[in-house]
Amino acid sequence: NPIPPAAARQKGVEALRAGHVGVMLVAGGQGTRLRFDHPKGMFPIGPVSGKSLFQIHCEKVLAASRRYGVRIPLYLMTSPETHDETVAYLAEQQRFGLSAEDLLIFCQGTMPAVDARTGKILLADRHHIALSPDGHGGMLAAFQRSGAMADARRRGIRHLFYFQIDNPLVHVCDPEFLGYHLASGSEFTSQVVRKQQPLEKVGNVVEVDGRLQVIEYSDLPDDVAARRNEDGSLAIWAGSIAVHGMALSFLERMVESAAGLPFHRAMKRVPHLDPQGNRIDPDQPNAIKFERFIFDLMPSAQPAAIVEVDPAEHFAPLKNAPGETHDTPESVKAQMAAEHRQWLRSAGFEAPDNVPVEISPLFALDAEEMASRMLARKPITEPTYFG
Ligand code: UTP
Repeated sequence: NPIPPAAARQKGVEALRAGHVGVMLVAGGQGTRLRFDHPKGMFPIGPVSGKSLFQIHCEKVLAASRRYGVRIPLYLMTSPETHDETVAYLAEQQRFGLSAEDLLIFCQGTMPAVDARTGKILLADRHHIALSPDGHGGMLAAFQRSGAMADARRRGIRHLFYFQIDNPLVHVCDPEFLGYHLASGSEFTSQVVRKQQPLEKVGNVVEVDGRLQVIEYSDLPDDVAARRNEDGSLAIWAGSIAVHGMALSFLERMVESAAGLPFHRAMKRVPHLDPQGNRIDPDQPNAIKFERFIFDLMPSAQPAAIVEVDPAEHFAPLKNAPGETHDTPESVKAQMAAEHRQWLRSAGFEAPDNVPVEISPLFALDAEEMASRMLARKPITEPTYFG
């Protein structure tokens, strides 16, 4: 049963001030759809500033730690694909203001890719098999293996705010969300958005035998996705946006449990050597990769919970290359600017639709903070960055 928003916010603020909250950011994906030659976190996404995803996320953590007067550790997961470049980039940028002790970077594991027809393990070259990151669910094992989980325990962290590198709209350490997570006694709480279309490409949160679980869109039959209630609304309506609150004690229990997380199969394009040693660069998916999904923890949580959020304010995933139909750099920048324009308008600014605006997380983390800034409310007529 939800508590009032103000009470939830207060509860979240108390946990933050007490130093009970850490942040988990997963950035081990290969970002193949975006077609960017570096880790996705380095992609310049600020609509006016051109700041990278890494910078925006690091600044949100820094701003939260200043606001709540507490050290907030950022646990950042990379993969062998993204690790070295991420470490070098963040060092060069001085971790965008985070202290070295509060940014812990750890690397996830890999799994071999197999030929989709024969099931045989593919060779990347003569002396190496083709490996790829073992999915965002690889976080659980890697968090422990790296010692980062023990670090969280030592610091007195009790809950993690988890999110993905590709969503610059995420409200990192959102106190209201954390408050619902805490007040419900949940071990695993997910932000969801109300689906507009049955076949949206999000994980679907459903209740099976009294337990919440997520079914990936690719695993949900179309006719089941299309089912509607009597009032016309979608029966399966809750789309996960991969923002979770997790109790540290739950992760510790799950990492020890023998069952662990299952592997899902994904058909992907994997360059490899054929049996004659010729290099093959397929243009169609040819291989099966094995990935673990973090949301498979949900049915084991006692209990789990969901919190509905407005996608316009919380969800703009960068997935696809420029020029594609959705989730592109253009659409993500437009959504960021739209959110910040709303904050400006509610703070009394005149901000026309077609003029890009951007507010640094270090300037304001939300509409209220923007409104509290002592600024001349001049009409905005050209691209403007508040930083
Ligand atoms: P996606 O599954 O969308 O993959 O990852 P991706 O790497 O961003 O893009 P494609 O599919 O190759 O185009 C969702 C989130 O999970 C992380 C990604 O970094 C992203 O934040 N992730 C994914 C990992 O950390 N490790 C993985 O093995 C897979």
